[in-house]
Amino acid sequence: MRVSGDRLLDDLVKLGKIGAREGSGRTRLVLTPEDFEARRFLITRMKESGMQVRVDQVGNIVGRRGSSMNEKLPVLAFGSHIDTVPSAGTLDGCYGVLAGLEVIRTLNDERAVTRHPLELISFSDEEGVRFPMMVGSKVASGVMDLETAYELRDNAGITYRQALEAGGLLEGALVSPRRTPGEIGAWLELHIEQGPILESEHLKIGIVESIVGLVHMLVTIQGRAGHAGTTPMNARRDPMLAAAQIILEVNKIGRELSRSSVGTVGLLNVQPGAMNVIPGKVEVGIDLRDISGERIDQGIRKVTSAIDAVCKKLGLEYTTRERARLAPQPMSKKVMGSIELAAKRLGATYRVMPSGAGHDTQNMARICETGMIFVPSKGGVSHAPDEWTDPTDLALGANVLLEALLELDRA
Ligand code: HGY
Ligand code: MN
Ligand code: MN
Repeated sequence: MRVSGDRLLDDLVKLGKIGAREGSGRTRLVLTPEDFEARRFLITRMKESGMQVRVDQVGNIVGRRGSSMNEKLPVLAFGSHIDTVPSAGTLDGCYGVLAGLEVIRTLNDERAVTRHPLELISFSDEEGVRFPMMVGSKVASGVMDLETAYELRDNAGITYRQALEAGGLLEGALVSPRRTPGEIGAWLELHIEQGPILESEHLKIGIVESIVGLVHMLVTIQGRAGHAGTTPMNARRDPMLAAAQIILEVNKIGRELSRSSVGTVGLLNVQPGAMNVIPGKVEVGIDLRDISGERIDQGIRKVTSAIDAVCKKLGLEYTTRERARLAPQPMSKKVMGSIELAAKRLGATYRVMPSGAGHDTQNMARICETGMIFVPSKGGVSHAPDEWTDPTDLALGANVLLEALLELDRA
């Protein structure tokens, strides 16, 4: 039983067209018109494959392929997300969802009956660009309650609930997103590696053993707007100066905290944002990661004291707000074993490895056994339009997902 790489690629190309702009990839931030269009595409495809489809109260899409043997057994669930970062590639998240769909179609073609019911899940808001990340899987796993999720606001002050309503996603009877422990026996996420390891070691499959922890922190520095030409250099209260030193400090901490730590400033909001105006306010978005939660806390302490020192020195007011936090998460040995068996059965070269990217899987690990399968990323590039994986590698990854699910189904 093997998937059809062509059908999978065809779906990836079609989904990749939604929200695409010439020369700048595609952008489908959660609960925007582009996201709603992608959701409709996926739901149509899921229904065409015979699945019962439901959308829950937080916007997760769940397709179910029942088991004619025993509906009472725990569900085997798999999937990922279809929302993107700005100017994204076609594979991050989408590959895991569409490969999962292709697995369902392959089982149908073979008239295969599984002991466990299967569920393909596309989690809402994995990327957290517009709202804090992973709202869908956090609510599903109980990390966040639905009311808190509904009250989250984007930069325009629109709540997550209002954004759902705008897309008509709160109409009709919706199921509760909360999955109870025991309901799902195992969760598997197939994903592109998004880094250089598999490609550089000429390996085809990554068996993830642990997923990195991360903190997203927003620093808002209040200065005094002024004229770039007439304000003497020693009479300024320039928040950009503080931001510059914070950016350097985050980079230093990312380099020095540990071998697995990374520190990034990818977001800088400058108000009012004109070349001839000394900024009045600057917002700095910090992303700090490590496989140890302790070291992340240490890193946050370091960056917070650096912020305090530089703002005091420059006479600037500031506030900090933690926007998201994910604990590092080891994967289930049992699920890792099923992935290894599948890779061996398919003659795929593989290695056990960490994930430097965060994933919904680290939330799902709170309620069931979880594992992740990686395929190589060309040049280790992701979160960019030229994110790519060789189609044969995409098909191989989907076959490993299929085989690992069948292995878990036998267990
Ligand atoms: O940021 C991440 O690691 C993931 O792509 N959301
Ligand atoms: Mn992803
Ligand atoms: Mn991503």
